[in-house]
Amino acid sequence: MPAMTAVDADTRAGAGVPAEAVGPLVRGVGVLRRLAEAGGTLSPSALERATGLARSTVDRITATLARMGYVRLDGRDVVLTPGVLELGNAFLAALRLPALLGARADALADELDESVSLAVADRDGVRFIHQATRRRALSVSFRIGDLLPAERTAPGALFATEWTERDWARWRTRRAEDPRDTAFPAVPPRPEPAPGTAHATADAVDAAFADRVRAARRDGWALDDQLIEPGLVAVSAPVRDPRTGRVACVASVVSHTSRHPAAELPATLLPRLRTAVEAMEADLRTAPPPEPGPAPAGLATWTTASKQELGRDFVESLARGLTVLTAFGEGRPALSLTDVARATGLSRATARRALLTHEHLGLVTAAHEDRAFTLTPRVLDLGFPPLSRTTLPRLAQPHLRALADRVREPAALAVLTADGTEVQYTAGAATSGVLTVRIPVGARLPAAATSLGRVLLADADGPLSPELTQVRAQGYALADEELESGLRSVAVPVRDRTGRAVAAVNVATHAARRTLEDCVQRLLPALRATADDIQRDLHQVSRFTKVPTT
Ligand code: PHB
Repeated sequence: MPAMTAVDADTRAGAGVPAEAVGPLVRGVGVLRRLAEAGGTLSPSALERATGLARSTVDRITATLARMGYVRLDGRDVVLTPGVLELGNAFLAALRLPALLGARADALADELDESVSLAVADRDGVRFIHQATRRRALSVSFRIGDLLPAERTAPGALFATEWTERDWARWRTRRAEDPRDTAFPAVPPRPEPAPGTAHATADAVDAAFADRVRAARRDGWALDDQLIEPGLVAVSAPVRDPRTGRVACVASVVSHTSRHPAAELPATLLPRLRTAVEAMEADLRTAPPPEPGPAPAGLATWTTASKQELGRDFVESLARGLTVLTAFGEGRPALSLTDVARATGLSRATARRALLTHEHLGLVTAAHEDRAFTLTPRVLDLGFPPLSRTTLPRLAQPHLRALADRVREPAALAVLTADGTEVQYTAGAATSGVLTVRIPVGARLPAAATSLGRVLLADADGPLSPELTQVRAQGYALADEELESGLRSVAVPVRDRTGRAVAAVNVATHAARRTLEDCVQRLLPALRATADDIQRDLHQVSRFTKVPTT
């Protein structure tokens, strides 16, 4: 029997799909979940097997998701793209905790030189919403969006101090049905118990968790002494919501027994964790009210246009349903049906069916009194874990490839070295041909002699040479046989969310093939479009995660 997945667990728990649920939306969310579970990439036939859907259905769903910018078709594979993070970002923005507390977690990680995470409760699990990761030989680290079973983490014991009898019952049911944690792909499964000992083993695990929850209630902090993996230890403290007094999220410091044996954590790491948590709680008390961002607009016209263009291959109800999730965001954490309909431009009937479907899928919950809908942490299942660890070169690569194919000239991405004298190539897409420029990733060239270096130097603070002033004003740089006779190139900057040029992209050609004018007339517009595509992805991914530029 194949391992039970989180998706199976949902559909089983939800039993019947409500009659009003939007079928294509259920199936489309299923495809996104399977892709995320598989690490971001599956072939259409693997998707067919994983979802049980017909090939024609898989094809129409992936065509729709591709149109939405959520997946890309790469040869024979379907690949999640950074665009899909707009869904998880809507949840994280609505939650506000990463924006309000992330910098404190990062500072604590720097101070302790250990990884620090923030997690929220997700039913009987814990889900990470922020990670300040130290790269270490001896450390496992989880990704934003990863879901862990409560009883195998320190945060879980703290969340369970607030569990109701129903929560405990749900937890016991899950433990009985999935004693090896196969529904949690982020953790190694528990070892197979010796024959005849399964019940006793499970009972011991459950009793130990109940003990840890009692200790967490008494102490106000919790330990993870290698509950997930040998060597992995953590100490956690709750960050309480100043209005309700309830646990808003849990901050954890994660270490390894070789540096900090678990028994010593209360004396070594806990005091500084508690100081940081007090500061976080003060930040929550004094935070100004959120700035409601603009609601998405023009959805109805966008989907109608796509339908007209793609016809049968565009599943409009799926596109509309997913975009309902993006109506939420900073300052828009709880929305009524009317709010959602207004924000999306959908009819009330369409918005209502989409919300009911999302409720069934566990992606939104409705507060009973006023039927105000909110997003749940499960929205992070839709792509966050695989995409929250990407780098700028990795996310740029498919865009460079598409550019090189379009203009039939090689394209490259580069950054400025720390001292600003050289550019280093970080990604590239070559073209075939006898006379073609091939600069390997990792190569360094003098910044001032390359188009890449010039656009990056032109972004520097302080006085610029007349040449660089001009580069800055025109937004691109040319290099004409300065580095090597015959080599001609044009480059534009790639800017981060603050507007700083963190990298540059260029296209290189041979002087015999293109005049300088041709470079500006023909290559520059394609290059600019590519830089825009890379930037759009970078801005989506970097909203709540750090994206290394190399
Ligand atoms: C983590 O942030 O990776 C983490 C936190 C608490 C745990 C285990 C891991 O108990």
